[in-house]
Amino acid sequence: MIHADNLTVQYAGSIGLSTITAIQSLSITVEKGEFVVVVGPSGCGKTTLLRVLAGLERPASGNATITPTDTHRPPTAMVFQNAGLFPWMSVLENVAFGMRMQGIRGPKRYALAQEWINRVGLSRFVDSFPSQLSGGMQQRVGLARAFAHNPEVLLMDEPFGALDAQTRLVLQETLLDLWKNSDTTVLFVTHSIEEALTLGDRIVVMSARPGHILAEVAVTFPRPRNVMALRANPDFGKRYADIWEILREQVDLAQKEH
Ligand SMILES: Nc1ncnc2c1ncn2[C@@H]1O[C@H](COP(=O)(O)OP(=O)(O)OP(=O)(O)O)[C@@H](O)[C@H]1O
Ligand SMILES: [Mg+2]
Repeated sequence: MIHADNLTVQYAGSIGLSTITAIQSLSITVEKGEFVVVVGPSGCGKTTLLRVLAGLERPASGNATITPTDTHRPPTAMVFQNAGLFPWMSVLENVAFGMRMQGIRGPKRYALAQEWINRVGLSRFVDSFPSQLSGGMQQRVGLARAFAHNPEVLLMDEPFGALDAQTRLVLQETLLDLWKNSDTTVLFVTHSIEEALTLGDRIVVMSARPGHILAEVAVTFPRPRNVMALRANPDFGKRYADIWEILREQVDLAQKEH
């Protein structure tokens, strides 16, 4: 579904500054329906990778492609740390907006939007505006909007990074529940190894900049996963230590660069 081959991405420096190589010779394949989590030190090119896949940046060399399998579905949607809701639109309008762009007609659009809002537990807030919601509730709306849009690939850039620890756990559970029957392939970026282990089928560890793939770790915990119970699993701690060992050196390298 997602395929990057020897991908290199550069940013032109401002006047007097040299070119920045954000990603160098990165290759990755993601199967249809897979949930892959990307971890890596700050500045290693995670957001850049998602932006290239969304068609927002161009590779300097190599390629990154998404192969659509269903012409009725949009190929990608992106979810960011900040839910990015339109402040002048109600929750219902925000969730329905993407479907309007897809040409889905009014009554059907609002019925579908309502359904996704119910699924994220915000049925009482359909007519509220984003400023009336907590950060966690706003990100719930962001999830409802992303799944209502029904993309084949969901690109998620630290969507829960700004939330408190408890809200984050609950939203991880919500995400897994929405994803379960959605036939959506997910590429999810996080700094949290716990989050990566909780959500992913596979964890991809990136090196310090210029980013490439250092390691891929399969996560074999059975699904459906209970977010709380998983943390008590002794294998969870062991896997955490394995991944931290790979990541730690890269985090140190990235720190030195600053
Ligand atoms: N528009 C831009 N112009 C110039 N350099 C950029 C631009 N966007 C990103 N970079 C640089 O490219 C590198 C990779 O950035 P990117 O945002 O992809 O990292 P990241 O892994 O998402 O970091 P973080 O974990 O902090 O979000 C960084 O060194 C950054 O400074
Ligand atoms: Mg980033």
